[in-house]
Amino acid sequence: MTERKSENITWHEGQVRRSDREAILCQRGVTIWLTGLSGSGKSTIAVAAERELTNRGRLAFVLDGDNIRHGLNAKLGFSPEDRAENIRRIGEVSKLFTEAGMIVFTSFISPYRSDRDAVRALMGPGDFVEIYLDASLETCEQRDVKGLYKKARAGEIPEFTGISAPYEAPESPELVLDTNRQSIEESVGKLVEYLDAKGYLTPASGA
Ligand code: ADX
Repeated sequence: MTERKSENITWHEGQVRRSDREAILCQRGVTIWLTGLSGSGKSTIAVAAERELTNRGRLAFVLDGDNIRHGLNAKLGFSPEDRAENIRRIGEVSKLFTEAGMIVFTSFISPYRSDRDAVRALMGPGDFVEIYLDASLETCEQRDVKGLYKKARAGEIPEFTGISAPYEAPESPELVLDTNRQSIEESVGKLVEYLDAKGYLTPASGA
């Protein structure tokens, strides 16, 4: 449980059930948690999957690490504590969106297993799907789309994941996408296929 400072607060129930919303949206709310090194393809795959689901008439939304750090999490850095808080907040936001019936894609490095497991524990069964974008450090460093690995190697970025800060790969993710070899299209195809096969693209029975 997250430590809470506020007292005298009451939980209010609404009149609309999650399943009511899911019936309207024709889908099941879920958080698709993409984790992997910087440059492993998280944002690109999230954005492409969001486009694909939207084309299919579904409601999807991307929460992206770089973007969220411009606003909601602008005051957080890259220490282990700040990364934990970054992931905790996104976990809470994802939970709200999931309960609203949305298909949420998160693209955060989320390098610590304990932070990701805490988000899983926050969510209901089947609401959290962890996807490991398995790209080696060599691959990501070679791509270096943002030029950050070069800077990190030169000592200009402290605590850079994979160089001077750790990345803990998931032990039992729901899905692994090998982005060393697979194209973006192949990865998105596998991801959407997974969602379809698991029933996320139809409302839960009884809705
Ligand atoms: S996380 O570790 O807290 O999950 P997050 O996904 O929000 O990270 O942000 C990662 C992005 O911030 C990277 O894609 C990169 O563009 C940028 N970045 C800047 N400094 C660092 C750093 N020290 N380590 C990792 N990424 C960094």
